[in-house]
Amino acid sequence: MADLDQLETETLARIADAADLPALDAARVAALGKQGSVSALLKTLGGMTPVQRQAEGPRINGLRERVAAAVAERKEALEAAALNVRLATERLDMTLPLAASPRGTVHPVSQVMDELAEVFADLGFAVATGPEIEDDWHNFTALNIPESHPARAMHDTFYFGDSPTGGEQSSPSDGGSAAASRPKRMLLRTHTSPVQVRAMTSQPPPLRVIAPGRVYRSDSDATHTPMFHQIEGLVIDRGIHLGHLKWTLETFLRAFFERDDVVLRLRPSYFPFTEPSVEVDVGYSVENGRRVIGGAEGWMEVLGSGMVHPKVLRECGLDPDEWQGFAFGTGIDRLAMLKYGMDDLRAFFDGDLRWLRHYGFAALDVPTLSGGLSS
Ligand code: DAH
Repeated sequence: MADLDQLETETLARIADAADLPALDAARVAALGKQGSVSALLKTLGGMTPVQRQAEGPRINGLRERVAAAVAERKEALEAAALNVRLATERLDMTLPLAASPRGTVHPVSQVMDELAEVFADLGFAVATGPEIEDDWHNFTALNIPESHPARAMHDTFYFGDSPTGGEQSSPSDGGSAAASRPKRMLLRTHTSPVQVRAMTSQPPPLRVIAPGRVYRSDSDATHTPMFHQIEGLVIDRGIHLGHLKWTLETFLRAFFERDDVVLRLRPSYFPFTEPSVEVDVGYSVENGRRVIGGAEGWMEVLGSGMVHPKVLRECGLDPDEWQGFAFGTGIDRLAMLKYGMDDLRAFFDGDLRWLRHYGFAALDVPTLSGGLSS
């Protein structure tokens, strides 16, 4: 009897003194484990007479229960304490100032993409995206560039898999399920124009979207890299005409180049997916021997654009008698070069730290129209 009380006192004291979870577990095993002191007492019940067992049974079982409860309670307390210690050490003071000069810079291409998104958001355009691994139908056929069209050859396309002349086209308008079951030839998109098709086939008009992103062509020299960046714009609504296109591009280029004296010149051109098509030149002047956008001492081509071809509208399931639209596309890298005065496109993709530090933008300077796009 005294033994039992002493055992209880000692066991409970050891549990209460356990400084951490391993110590507590050791105390638990010493009492309740297979070879434990309390377990040994429980085993003695088997050898007792019924009368003895009636007296001892409740005492021993009571001891076991109190020990088990003490272990559980201590465990909870230790776990809570451990959590508090962890919370205290992992605390982060969000009010502390940032390092004065963060190391990295924002690449000019990312900066210009942010600037473009900001300018067009102000005009009510949403940003649309599409896959860089595109199928032939979205990249060409739906844009009125059928299999035999010479524009395909001009795009220097990277195809996946078999020969570029094999494979069949599929289109939602050429027979529904039959089209869907045909194999699709995949390629790296050669322009951002397929995002037009994706926008028109996935959302009901009216639409106002821009689609910045990477495009790929098998071409490489001082002014061409196999991967480069384009931005596509698309507006679909009722009663849209060339005047809307001209105003939009003028407003965009003035905001982007941050000059009110930006002058545009629209020249008739040809793109399979627009009719009429126009190429847009922007006027430049020469300041200190350098060309700067603004004025009209000379002209530089900056954009391709036009009214969305009725065939493209129809291919995307829109009725050209009800819906019209304009589209435009241009190279983001070139816009960046013109705005920030870089002259070698290849440097954009070299990853040279000196170049990045020189031309990069501070990570926390988000371009806004009100705060100045590039300042
Ligand atoms: N996709 C054309 C290219 O890569 C650029 C372009 C021209 C896009 C005219 C357009 C457009 O949306 O209307 O050369």
